[in-house]
Amino acid sequence: MTPAAPAIRVQNVSQTYGAAGDPRRVVALGGASLEIARGEMVCLVGPSGCGKSTLLNLIGGLATPESGNIWIDGEPVRGPQPQKVAFVFQESALFPWRTIQENVELGMEFQGVPVSERASRARESLATAGLSAFASHYPRQLSGGMKQRAQLARALALRTGILLMDEPFAALDEQTRMVFGEELSLLLANAGKTIVLVTHSLTEAVFLADRVAVFSARPGRIKQIVSVDEEHPRRQSFMTSPKLAQLRNELYDLLHDEIRSTMNLPAAEPGQ
Ligand SMILES: Nc1ncnc2c1ncn2[C@@H]1O[C@H](COP(=O)(O)OP(=O)(O)OP(=O)(O)O)[C@@H](O)[C@H]1O
Ligand SMILES: [Mg+2]
Repeated sequence: MTPAAPAIRVQNVSQTYGAAGDPRRVVALGGASLEIARGEMVCLVGPSGCGKSTLLNLIGGLATPESGNIWIDGEPVRGPQPQKVAFVFQESALFPWRTIQENVELGMEFQGVPVSERASRARESLATAGLSAFASHYPRQLSGGMKQRAQLARALALRTGILLMDEPFAALDEQTRMVFGEELSLLLANAGKTIVLVTHSLTEAVFLADRVAVFSARPGRIKQIVSVDEEHPRRQSFMTSPKLAQLRNELYDLLHDEIRSTMNLPAAEPGQ
């Protein structure tokens, strides 16, 4: 590890799905670049289909970019690194035939955590995610939001330096989501983890992030970065503050035309 290297470095990364000549061919990412410092929390926001999940998967080593480079701790990414990087996926990735506790333990099994440690670490992270009472339930017995929290518990139990989260709160109702955002902010404030979180909620992005990276429409690249200069952990008073509202509006203005272009609508006239 190079001490001065950023935790994550993405340089001019492009990704295309589908073979040349295939009418379904899609250029998902078109030269995205981003540097994330150790311990930093960066939120990715952008129109649907602009390549956010694609970028997260590439950072996690789940696929190889068509061009460009990605480094973690100064080392080129060549595949998944379960010791360093944990994932919370956009779609539930819990095994239906295992209880929640067993699902959390499975992640550690893949990572090579000794059997003797798995159960206690699973219990600890389930408590953090507010799921202690549901450890012996099966995924089908949980609500959508609880399943996402179970995925978060599984990722936290891995104790990796990097956590990649793809819309982890999408299934939570807005109020629970905000309260959970506060909990997460508290939880992560002292964890020293480097976090990349994809979200469609601009409020959530501002509330949680040190910096918010705004994507352009597909083929995605990072159009602008908005810094959120506010101490962690963030409190409810920040959630309802004019400062948060102003930053959220700034993000909305940046995204507005990108979203119109995704929907094939003309850019709005100024003042509209
Ligand atoms: N495995 C795949 N095979 C083919 N095309 C894909 C695949 N994964 C993604 N795509 C395409 O790449 C583009 C970017 O997808 P991606 O999932 O990265 O977007 P996203 O920004 O995460 O969108 P959302 O906000 O809706 O989750 C989309 O047009 C999608 O159809
Ligand atoms: Mg996505």
